[in-house]
Amino acid sequence: MLQVCSVTKYFKGQEVFSGFDLNVPQGRFHVLVGPSGCGKSTLFDGLTGVIHLDGGSLFWNHEPLLNLSQHAAYMQQKDMLLPWFSLLDNALLPAKTGGQDMIAAENQARGLFKRLGLKGYESHYSNQVSGGMRQRCALVRTLMFNRDLILLDEPLSALDTITRRSLQSLLLLLQTEFKKTILMITHDIEEALLLADEIYLLNPMPMAISRHFVLDSPKPRKFNDPALLDIKADVLDKLEGDLIHEPG
Ligand SMILES: Nc1ncnc2c1ncn2[C@@H]1O[C@H](COP(=O)(O)OP(=O)(O)OP(=O)(O)O)[C@@H](O)[C@H]1O
Ligand SMILES: [Mg+2]
Repeated sequence: MLQVCSVTKYFKGQEVFSGFDLNVPQGRFHVLVGPSGCGKSTLFDGLTGVIHLDGGSLFWNHEPLLNLSQHAAYMQQKDMLLPWFSLLDNALLPAKTGGQDMIAAENQARGLFKRLGLKGYESHYSNQVSGGMRQRCALVRTLMFNRDLILLDEPLSALDTITRRSLQSLLLLLQTEFKKTILMITHDIEEALLLADEIYLLNPMPMAISRHFVLDSPKPRKFNDPALLDIKADVLDKLEGDLIHEPG
C-alpha cells in the first residue's frame, strides 16, 4: 500500500502543491486526471525521487521512505530512451543495473516486445521508430523493473486508437494477472473509466483533489455500462465547470 501524506513542492517560491494526500491500496488501479500544468508529473517526479519534495512523508506498506525509487517502476512522460542503445538494450537497462540474470531478462524483454507489437524492432534505435513505438518500448523498460508498484505518466498518449485499446487491455492485465498496484496519469477520460478503480480529478495552482470517484463496475468494462456513463457525465460536468470558472 502506498500512502502519500501531506507532500509539498515549490518551484522558485511558487507552490505547485502543498499538503497533498493520496492512498493507493495494494493491487488497486488509481488514475489522476487534471489540467495541463497542474503538477501531476511533478508529483510523480517527487514520489520517485527524480526531484526532491519540500515536505510531507511517504509510506510503502506502512514503512516510511524518502522516496519510492526502490519500490516503484516509473514511466515518465518523456520516454527517456537512450539514443545510442537499441530498443532491446534500452529495455534491458533495468536488468543490467539491477544485476539480474541477463538470459532470463532478455527472454522476458523479447516476450514483452512481442506482446506490445514491437517484434522485429529489437535492434532498431529510437530515432528509427515512431513516437508510439518509443512509448511502447518505454513501457517494456518500465515492466522490466519487475516492481509491485508502477507509476505511469500518460503512458499511451502517443498511440493511435486501436493500439491504445490493446495496450489498455495489457495495463488491465498488469493489475488482474500480475497483481501490480498502479498509479496512472491520463488526459483520456474514457481510458480512466475503463481502467480505474478510483479516479481523482485535480485542480490547478496549487494542485488539489477536487473530486474523487470510486468505480466498482467489474473489468473488463464496456463503454455502454450505465454506471460508467453516469460517472463520465459527472466527470465531464466537473471539468466543464472548472473551465467556465477558470480565471481570465
Ligand atoms: N523544473 C522546473 N522548474 C520550474 N518549474 C517547473 C519545473 N517543472 C515543472 N515546472 C512547473 O510546475 C508546474 C507543473 O508542471 P507539471 O509538469 O508537473 O504539470 P503536469 O500536470 O504534468 O502537466 P501536463 O498535463 O501538461 O503534463 C508547471 O507550471 C510547470 O511549468
Ligand atoms: Mg505532465
